[in-house]
Amino acid sequence: MASNSLTIRDNRTGKEVELPIIEGSEGPGVVDISNFNKDFKLFTLDPGFRSTASCRSAITFIDGDAGVLLYRGYPIEQLAEQSSFLEVSHLLMYGELPSPNQCGHYRALVSNHTMVHEQLLNFYRGFRRDAHPMAITVGVVGALSSFYHDSLDINNPRHRDISAIRLVAKVPTIAALAYKYSVGQPFVYPQNKLGYVENFMHMLFAVPCEEYEVSPVRARALEQVMILHADHEQNASTSTVRLAGSSGANPFAAVSAGIGALWGPAHGGANEAVLKMLTQIGDVSRIPDYIRRAKDHDDPFRLMGFGHRVYKNYDPRARILRKAAYDVLRDAGREDDPLFKVALELERIALEDDYFIQKKLYPNVDFYSGLILSAMGIPTNMFTVMFAVSRTVGWISQWLEMMNEEDQSIGRPRQLYTGHARRDYVPMKDR
Ligand code: CMC
Repeated sequence: MASNSLTIRDNRTGKEVELPIIEGSEGPGVVDISNFNKDFKLFTLDPGFRSTASCRSAITFIDGDAGVLLYRGYPIEQLAEQSSFLEVSHLLMYGELPSPNQCGHYRALVSNHTMVHEQLLNFYRGFRRDAHPMAITVGVVGALSSFYHDSLDINNPRHRDISAIRLVAKVPTIAALAYKYSVGQPFVYPQNKLGYVENFMHMLFAVPCEEYEVSPVRARALEQVMILHADHEQNASTSTVRLAGSSGANPFAAVSAGIGALWGPAHGGANEAVLKMLTQIGDVSRIPDYIRRAKDHDDPFRLMGFGHRVYKNYDPRARILRKAAYDVLRDAGREDDPLFKVALELERIALEDDYFIQKKLYPNVDFYSGLILSAMGIPTNMFTVMFAVSRTVGWISQWLEMMNEEDQSIGRPRQLYTGHARRDYVPMKDR
């Protein structure tokens, strides 16, 4: 219940209304404007949702000024250091870290669903070999809804749970198949004796002609990348999943919509854009020129991997990945990697530059994740797909949370209409 309020006065009529302020468990509270239109016959306008909370959620908390990220209350640094992706996935979906028994059960459940229907493989063959793996992933994840009719009743909690597990289990398989298709290698089936991340690497990199051994250093780095990307409150793709889900669409369709939203370079596509940018810069001597371009309003170039809608401080995920990037490059014998050198120097220069300091533009999660993925042998066009695999857990956790709410309603924003006022049709001969 609201313990405080904000009084709004309509200067046109003199009418005053008290709007309840609702406090959350951390961070700024919200002003409840759900009756605003009834009270004032006005809508509120907030393009880009800069001041608008779209839902209540108990999953992830971000303090962008302090650079804090918590999953269900646990600091991201502790989870990245000590936890596993499956454990984090259980935490996000069910609210608590699993006990040893629960962990075993959850692992077995997910492992049981890693294979995809054999018929699904035909979808891949319909794509051109040079199709972007994100295009394939959007399509194939959406297609899951045509295979699992037994779990599509969104009003049945059992169906919701099993669909959620199916997504967590199958999206790595779908992503790996997209990769294999794009490089012309045979599809590799999941190996359930392997851990979640190791199995994903196996499906990506194993070939039938030789034994594939998962490097523990790389597996740990990928595990960290995946933990750090697992959820991030109401970002564009998560909001898309919720909006699509709010219409009653099945979770496979909703997550497919989220994958589409993730694709853009302002969101998940930034990791791909970072590596392209570092390659384009190529040498530390060219950095000042790119910094100058990033600051020029007339130049569309932006420093990819820098800036964030919420973080006005160093993204805590970037800090962790900076170290992980170093570990992986050392493991690959590439400590002197020229792109890593460019990245470190670019960061150093940007962090000392007035433009970036004043606008509070710091490296975000994507600045270093691409370097790690690249050192692992993952091609640039797969980066956003890797992000989608990790974020599937967040999307489905947020969808489950929304579906469990009592007061559900379709997400339906309003608008400020700026078009023509009413006018009459003009017959063709009179135009
Ligand atoms: N390089 C240069 N200038 C920038 C950058 C950048 N990367 N990011 C923001 N600015 C400037 C921007 O031009 C604006 O300047 P002004 O006030 O003079 O007009 C000011 O900083 C505020 O930027 P904004 O566009 O209002 O910020 P936003 O909250 O709308 O956008 C962002 C956030 C992440 C889309 C943006 O910072 C950006 O495009 N960054 C590069 C892409 C990127 O790295 N995206 C990954 C985000 S993290 C992963 C994820 O969440 O998916």
